[in-house]
Amino acid sequence: MATESLRRVGVLTAGGDCPGLNAVIRAFVKTAEAHYDWEIVGILDGFEGLCVPDGMRPLTGVDVRGILTLGGTILGTSNRGNPFAYRTMIDGEEQVVDRSPEVVERLKQKGIGALVVIGGDGSMRIGLRFGELGVPIVGVPKTIDNDLAATDVTFGFDTAVSTATDAIDRLRSTAEAHHRVMIVEVMGRDAGWLALESGLAGGGNVILIPEIPFRLERVAHAIEERSKRGRTYSIVVVAEGAHPAGGEPITQRIGPDGFPRLGGVGVWLADELGQRIKHEVRATVLGHTQRGGTPTPFDRVLATRLGCAAAWLVGQGDFGKMVAVRGSEIVPVEIAEAVRTSKRVPPGGERVQTARYIGVSFGD
Ligand code: F6P
Repeated sequence: MATESLRRVGVLTAGGDCPGLNAVIRAFVKTAEAHYDWEIVGILDGFEGLCVPDGMRPLTGVDVRGILTLGGTILGTSNRGNPFAYRTMIDGEEQVVDRSPEVVERLKQKGIGALVVIGGDGSMRIGLRFGELGVPIVGVPKTIDNDLAATDVTFGFDTAVSTATDAIDRLRSTAEAHHRVMIVEVMGRDAGWLALESGLAGGGNVILIPEIPFRLERVAHAIEERSKRGRTYSIVVVAEGAHPAGGEPITQRIGPDGFPRLGGVGVWLADELGQRIKHEVRATVLGHTQRGGTPTPFDRVLATRLGCAAAWLVGQGDFGKMVAVRGSEIVPVEIAEAVRTSKRVPPGGERVQTARYIGVSFGD
């Protein structure tokens, strides 16, 4: 698609926040400003900003100064506000309405000829639907869960692993001092990447992930065996989506996007293990600490490369694509392909095998 007539490009961050979002915005704005004549418009609070008249603001190089190291997103983000299924109160009742025609019209009126969506799989699906309505879209994948199949890695994951590992390191010293079993619940939705990676990095003794359903007796056995070998404490890293064989993950609530929010398995496990082993057991839920804070150098660099690549894609008129990591390269992939499958930890894969070789129990 020819982009000579492109005047304005919108950029938004949608879904849960993730360390590195600001680094993407910064790289995109800087590349665009240096190489193209577009005005960049920041859309506020994800897709929500497209559903209100004043949900945008100009973004220039000055606005992105000093944000490389900042967590969060200067544009704000939201899980609400899917324009295709917008929840709103009509006559005192919540109704779901399709506001996409209004959004398409608003983009036209504002002269926004292309939209860069920085988001997870849900946001990419929304972007895809706008693409079908004729809005030129470029996607940049983000999630601390690292569960997008189309890209080897997502920015934010490395920072979340580092935060979780730091927490495990801290819990180890208190676990050792009190001869306790410390359970650390980490995020990741239905994927165990965060638990596996931080569990390995933090020297976890038991790692429980959604891809490998566990048995309480096996977990208890692994801890008892350890203590027979003279180890008086244990670290159990459990993914929020992990569940016993034949069971389901614990759901806390349904999120504003209609998807379940998981959590609670750590406390449940502490209670169950407490009845089976002689150690004292404590649970710590890391929760949203894993999404906050300054991105690691790896994530800053990755986010910068992706933001820059997104600008080039817009410049080439290569729409309907998402920038992705394949090996050491950044490549464009079809958004449609990217949202088709999610990436789970292969139970028989090399990482799981490595963990087993060094004595980690998966409770199976
Ligand atoms: O997808 C990122 C993530 O942090 C998941 O790991 C977690 O399950 C979910 O978002 C939490 O969502 P919320 O911020 O809506 O509670």
